[in-house]
This record gives sequence, structure tokens and C-alpha cells, in this order.
Amino acid sequence: QTSPVSARQGTDPLVIAHRGASAYAPENTLAAVDKAEELGIDWVENDVQRTKDGQLVVLHDTDLKRTTDAEQVFPDRAPWNVKDFTAAEIARLDAGSWFGAEWAGARVPTLKGYLDAVEDNRQKLLLEIKAPELYPGIEKDILRVLRAEGWLDRAHVRNKLVIQSFGADSVKAVHEQRPDVTTGFLGAPAVADLPSYAKFTDQINPTHSTLTAEYVAAVHRLKGAHGKRLQVSTWTVNDAAGALRVAGFGVDGIITNNPDVVRDAVG
Ligand code: G3P
Ligand code: CA
Repeated sequence: QTSPVSARQGTDPLVIAHRGASAYAPENTLAAVDKAEELGIDWVENDVQRTKDGQLVVLHDTDLKRTTDAEQVFPDRAPWNVKDFTAAEIARLDAGSWFGAEWAGARVPTLKGYLDAVEDNRQKLLLEIKAPELYPGIEKDILRVLRAEGWLDRAHVRNKLVIQSFGADSVKAVHEQRPDVTTGFLGAPAVADLPSYAKFTDQINPTHSTLTAEYVAAVHRLKGAHGKRLQVSTWTVNDAAGALRVAGFGVDGIITNNPDVVRDAVG
């Protein structure tokens, strides 16, 4: 019997380490970037937000409670929203202990520090603009940092960078400001609406839980914003069976906390 993977047309899906190799190191820290590199994974996903003083930091939740010690360090600052803290305040926080004592002292990275680590590892970046409705104009801020750090040169734009968001307007803003950058929309628009998304995005990136082979095929029938086949990267698939399932649908990328498991299953 033919396996779902060998039945696929084309190449194996890319394996993308979700918030870094976040099953093994605290999510969205440089340790998680390095862990992905140790596992031989060259794509990492992160989440970018903006501080009170306009700096960009890498963190998933819009508040600091779950993954830092902000409640202990700043007991009077409820509800500990990222946007209400300066970058210097966030830099004081421990972003590792919640995951395990051996990770104590890990910090919330700045976007600049994160880019440096990814670059040093020769990795590639799927950058998520998290909760863009909280941070008006963050697209411009992100593009400014990316440009300053050399991430908008031809080599990076062609091969090493994708910017995605759940906010369609945010993805559109990136596309309008830097039409050369590859973009992704997080979600699963109705098939009838896909052509309008394809005008400003190159990827449609839905949760795996409702994904079907038919939906992937519908996306693949279209060309994305750069005239190439519209792609699908799905999240968050953390086991071999799930990886084989979505690989069988023909997805282009799998976003996973366990990138070694997924790579071994579909690579
Ligand atoms: O990259 C896809 C995935 O990260 C979207 O969900 O909540 O983990 O940011 P979330
Ligand atoms: Ca994310």
C-alpha cells in the first residue's frame, strides 16, 4: 500500500519550529532558536509585539504572565500587558523558569537580538505579527528593523523570510509597504474568498484541526501575490501521525513544537 507521503506530488513539506523548538526549550527565546538549529531545523516561527516605548519584542501572549515572572517583579502592574511595559522593564524578566529551572535567566528577545541569532545559525524566519490590532502601525516598525538588520536585501527576501498574521489588514499592509516580501495569512478563508486573499499573500496558513485535502487543493489552484502557486503551511502538528496526515494532503509546510519528530516522519 502506498503511504500518504510517498503518494504526494512534489517535495516534502518544510518543517518550521513553532516559537522555536518549543517542546524542548522555552518558547520564543533564543534557547528555542538554538535548539531548533541543534536539531537541524532551518525554519523558525516567532511572534512579534511592541512595547510601551515602541520597541519590538518576541513573545506570544499579549500579557507577560504565563511565560515570565512579571507578576513577581512588577506586582502592581496588573494585567501585565506587553504594550504597557518598556523594553528595559521586559529585559529584566525571566522568560525561562516557567519552563524548567535549567532555563532560568532566559530573556524575552528583542526582534533585533532574535534576528541576529537566527542569522548566526543560518536559519530562516516565519515572523508572525501578533495581535496587530493592539499595535497600530507595527508593520512599518517591523519592516524598519528588518531593513536595518539586513533582512530585506535580495537574498533574505527571496529565501529566508516570510511575514504572517491572523490580521488580514496587517498582511495587506506588509504587502503594500514591501511588495517583494513573502507573506502569509493565518486562517482558513472560505474557498470563494481565496482569490481576494491571493492578491496580497503567498500563503494561506490554517490550523490542522479542520484542514482537508480538498481545501489544500483549492488553495493550490490559485497563484499567490508573487505569481507562484499559493502555498499552505499548517499548525500546530506535534506528532508523526498528524504530520503524515497533513503531508498526505499536500501541504507545503508544517509548523510544529516538535520539529525533529515531524522531520523524521515526513523528511
Ligand atoms: O504559525 C502559526 C501559529 O503560530 C499560530 O498560532 O497562537 O501559536 O501564534 P499561535
Ligand atoms: Ca505564532
